[in-house]
Amino acid sequence: MNNNPLPRLDENEAIRQRLLPFCRLRPGECWIDEKCGHRVGCIDATDADGVLLFSDGLRPVLAVHDPPYNLIAFASRSVSDYVRWCRSWVEVTARILSADASLYVWLGADQGEGFQPLPDFMIMMRSSPFRPRSFITMRNQRGYGTLHNWMAIRQELLYYVRGKPVFNVDAEYTDIPKILRGYYKTVGGELTENLQRSRSDTIRAGNVWVDVQQVFYRMDENVSGCYAQKPLAAIERIVRASSNRGDAVIDLFGHSGTTLLACERLRRVCVSGDIDPIYCEIMIRRLEHFRINGRLGWQNGHPFEREAPAFALDEASPADMSSLPEPSLFEIA
Ligand SMILES: C[S@@+](CC[C@H](N)C(=O)[O-])C[C@H]1O[C@@H](n2cnc3c(N)ncnc32)[C@H](O)[C@@H]1O
Repeated sequence: MNNNPLPRLDENEAIRQRLLPFCRLRPGECWIDEKCGHRVGCIDATDADGVLLFSDGLRPVLAVHDPPYNLIAFASRSVSDYVRWCRSWVEVTARILSADASLYVWLGADQGEGFQPLPDFMIMMRSSPFRPRSFITMRNQRGYGTLHNWMAIRQELLYYVRGKPVFNVDAEYTDIPKILRGYYKTVGGELTENLQRSRSDTIRAGNVWVDVQQVFYRMDENVSGCYAQKPLAAIERIVRASSNRGDAVIDLFGHSGTTLLACERLRRVCVSGDIDPIYCEIMIRRLEHFRINGRLGWQNGHPFEREAPAFALDEASPADMSSLPEPSLFEIA
């Protein structure tokens, strides 16, 4: 079995520096996919002009944002600074989305720090153009927890809307069979129970998602080097529910490219950004990898294997860039 993962890139500056020469995008540049029109931009989510330019007239109906949570993988800011920062990318998102649109935000709550920043973010959003629609919790088990507290397995997902966006309820059905009977109701003079009346014999996910597996290294969709990858099944559920085929979807914190891959599989056009050229490159490579061999990620391998086979990063050199396909790039600013 292949056993050649990359370590977390946010914790390995030396490896990051060695991989940077293999990245197609520099800050301010954008890659345009000639096949389906997806875009990947190396851009700061708070840079309104840059984001508008790189989305180039597309009006997404859905934004799926997964910002750093102010607790991990981010130089921790004061809560007020963090919320001010969030307000600026929410404003950028409001400018770019269509009039009838959905906004999903993944966020964390630090139980050791007054549950910040989740409640602070929610309060800030009351003065945004979006209205709250649902507060979803995904079961997100990463391992075994402390014996002295409840095991931390939740992942919060906030759902906001503007106008009257699409909601495809079929996307909500899980593979979990209905087993509970009850809720008797008289329909057409006949007493019926809920299984007779329902649209499906499986349950709806509702706002507590218990059926999505957390990504770990044994899974095909794993992208080693990344530290905050969301499960493809969760992003696909959002994309299916809140957009239609052919619609544009935006994700300004793209990282491993989960939203990009979901859009490719579900025939949406993705506008995805990340401030870090390495994650931009990983996103593009994940899409290319999927198109070439149908794989969702690199189980026990990594996206830079071409230039750094067997993890021989010391030998990697920028000259190997010649093997990369010609990108179509343009400067954002
Ligand atoms: C939590 S991860 C997103 C994970 C993603 N949903 C996935 O499934 O792979 C957050 C990403 O935001 C990026 N980021 C941090 N600050 C940013 C900013 N100001 N603008 C754009 N991207 C930023 C980080 O580089 C990181 O890749």
